[in-house]
Amino acid sequence: MANPMQHNAAPARPSAVPKHVAIIMDGNGRWAAARGLPRLVGHREGAKAVRRSIEAAIGQGVKYLTLFAFSSENWQRPQEEVSDLRGLLLQYLRSELQELHEVGVRLRVIGEHTRFGPNVVAELEAAEAKTARNEKLTLLLALSYGGRADIVAAAQRAIAEGIAPEALTEQKFASYLTTAGVPDPDLLIRTSGEQRISNFLLWQTAYAELVFTDVLWPDFGEKDFAAAIGKFTKRERRFGARPE
Ligand code: IPE
Ligand code: IPE
Ligand code: MG
Repeated sequence: MANPMQHNAAPARPSAVPKHVAIIMDGNGRWAAARGLPRLVGHREGAKAVRRSIEAAIGQGVKYLTLFAFSSENWQRPQEEVSDLRGLLLQYLRSELQELHEVGVRLRVIGEHTRFGPNVVAELEAAEAKTARNEKLTLLLALSYGGRADIVAAAQRAIAEGIAPEALTEQKFASYLTTAGVPDPDLLIRTSGEQRISNFLLWQTAYAELVFTDVLWPDFGEKDFAAAIGKFTKRERRFGARPE
């Protein structure tokens, strides 16, 4: 008998290349500590790893890449480190934006990035506007991002609009999230051996495949990206449906 769920169920076979990859870029501090270097050096090397992952994503045919660069909780770090990270962000934008634009990357910021101040906001918004028509890869940069804050802000927007409770479906709710219009991540990678979500895309990763690697973020390269994709393609995604 035909399975009535068949229509919505994902096929129970190895998955194709993920459309959306999200990465928790972790381990910069430990990379530096292992070399007796200040954390800033680890963050600087981490910024270099970003380019490698963008290139790898494009090479693999990924359409959305979300990078967790700074969490809502990272404001609790020493002021000096926060200021270093802010500086690196500006430096990154200034040195990489043109090239990102030329290869067809569209930049989109998610999170409460306004907390970084007007200069950062102005540069980020200019970068978003400049790259708005690019289609090769959408790069979502999560800055001062927290999954819970994202959900609460979505609820606030829905309430402010005066939405009727019964109209607030899952699909409608997702349209109030900062990731509106972006398909949910298929694959979530976390580097540095930690196996937790740390308040990243809580709503959006409901059915993401998780890949954890011991590689520290500054060492993460195209091979590691490809290896994570390789693991993903061997997974059988079921979305709660029964296996075939
Ligand atoms: C990730 O590296 C970068 C940010 C969170 C900004 P960490 O700074 O968390 O590095 P570890 O976890 O201390 O090694
Ligand atoms: C998560 O890493 C945030 C980013 C990678 C930007 P953290 O290093 O802040 O997470 P915890 O503290 O180990 O959970
Ligand atoms: Mg960390």
